[in-house]
Amino acid sequence: MKKSLIVANWKMNPQELKEAKNIALASDFKNVVICSPFVFLREIKKTIKNAKIGGQNCFYEKLVGPFTGEVSAKMLKDVGCDYVILGHSERREIFKENHEEIKKKIKAALAAKITPIVCIGEDEGTKNGGETIKKQIFGSIDKSFLSKIIIAYEPVFAIGTGKPCLPDLAEKRRVFIKSTLSKIGKKGESLPILYGGSVNSKNAIKYTQEAGFDGILVGGASLKKEEFKKILSKA
Ligand code: PGA
Repeated sequence: MKKSLIVANWKMNPQELKEAKNIALASDFKNVVICSPFVFLREIKKTIKNAKIGGQNCFYEKLVGPFTGEVSAKMLKDVGCDYVILGHSERREIFKENHEEIKKKIKAALAAKITPIVCIGEDEGTKNGGETIKKQIFGSIDKSFLSKIIIAYEPVFAIGTGKPCLPDLAEKRRVFIKSTLSKIGKKGESLPILYGGSVNSKNAIKYTQEAGFDGILVGGASLKKEEFKKILSKA
């Protein structure tokens, strides 16, 4: 059985470096990516033997310059990041990121040789979800990105709510995402797709082994060391 990719999205947690290093110990495996706040990345990379690290965002300008508060993809690469989460629904909602900006960020990450994990997902539940997903895909994914990115299907109603998307629906969405991507280009069919949204140690396996996802993106549960270890042992 192939190893799933497991991505820990710590969001704006934890408060202290000591705690960050402690939580990261659970992730000392080659198939895990720790996406911590920028300030912890370098130390985590130093402390954890197998650590693969990723940012939770980057700016689209490639060169250094007057962009107060921003971090470039090249800077992420320089601290050891191989991945960056882009287009997370919290960024789309709170920071009003649009498809065009996300597209530019994906381009910048690829130019810095970082693999973008591009989040897409609907917030309407089952009814108009397909339309939202299509707009996100066609608005931010260029043909030239195919085969170089990872998609994370994260339905907004499942994020941080404790109400995961049922594996049956998630699987339907996975198939729909693949067919939508294939309209951009043939290579779209083979992009890895992760599931994210209220993943825990009880349901992780349903997404990786029953619903056919290539891995999972874990938020809240990745901050609970013992729970995350259980996820890693099952997914
Ligand atoms: P959650 O978050 O696992 O806490 O639902 C997932 C995410 O936002 O990536």
